[in-house]
Amino acid sequence: MNTAHIPKIELHLHLEGAAPPAFIRGLAAEKGMDLSRIFTGDGGYAYRDFPHFLNVYEAATSVLTGPEEFARLTTAVLQESAAHGVIYTEAFLSPDFCGGGDLGAWREYLAAIREAAAQAEARDGIILRGIVTAIRHLGPDRAKPAALCAAETAGDFITGFGIAGDEMTGKLKEFTWSFDMAREAGLQITAHGGEWGGAASVWDAVKDLNVARIGHGVQAIEDPALVAHLAETGVVLECCPGSNVVLGVFPDWGSHPIEKLRAAGVKVTVSTDDPPFFHTTMTDEYDRLAETFGWDSGIFAEITKTALEAAFCDAATRETLTKKLELTP
Ligand code: ADE
Ligand code: ZN
Repeated sequence: MNTAHIPKIELHLHLEGAAPPAFIRGLAAEKGMDLSRIFTGDGGYAYRDFPHFLNVYEAATSVLTGPEEFARLTTAVLQESAAHGVIYTEAFLSPDFCGGGDLGAWREYLAAIREAAAQAEARDGIILRGIVTAIRHLGPDRAKPAALCAAETAGDFITGFGIAGDEMTGKLKEFTWSFDMAREAGLQITAHGGEWGGAASVWDAVKDLNVARIGHGVQAIEDPALVAHLAETGVVLECCPGSNVVLGVFPDWGSHPIEKLRAAGVKVTVSTDDPPFFHTTMTDEYDRLAETFGWDSGIFAEITKTALEAAFCDAATRETLTKKLELTP
């Protein structure tokens, strides 16, 4: 099956994590920064394991020091996504990387990202929305300015609040202040969980934060009661199977639980997470799902419908996307 042209909705993409290595290498060279340690000989990102991945990710991100660079990044990322049939994407944006949590600086970064997104929409039809994201291993105190940035800029573009980073650090409960602030500002909530921390970490996201969606969440498969709970309540999983396999959460595609979760009635969606880090694209994800689990156009349409319903966008945007999907043969 040729999946490149299938219209796709992506709910889980880290903007900095989607930076092509050549883009980061070029900026580092312009600034005279020596980042050779983060690249492989053939030009990819070099990391050993998840903690090292986070370290390399932050080193790569350190070259992005101004709004103009984030605008260029947004343009490059959306062009690549559109080439893989993505019509709507939600990107995690971190005030920690965009002005260090300062609200005035954040507004400038956000304006630049929005402008680039508007141009990409006009050129390629792809729609972007932003989820402001706290970084768990920086701790609850650093999440507060991020939540404030989110609350102050909540609206038609910033539509969600979430948390990424090292899931094995601290407890989600410690971030309640930030999530409450975001929720009160009308933002919808997602949290990374069940990528590394097992089913217990998914339970935490469900019980402590009452999330609408979970980033990854796939280790829920370890607990049948949790699988049943997710199916019953309709919490949506932002699954990123290629990311999980490359990082070693599961040894291979055949062991990935996405199909078992789907078959159990859990709402699953498909995303790339940090595509160049994991040598993937949305087309690659779809191709591997078709090869590994025999997913056909009917299942992909079901996944897209789930993602459309779970998207953190307003009714008008959902209507636009619905029409686009109806018009695509
Ligand atoms: N930040 C970027 N990618 C991530 C991942 N896969 N898990 C947690 N935090 C991340
Ligand atoms: Zn992620």
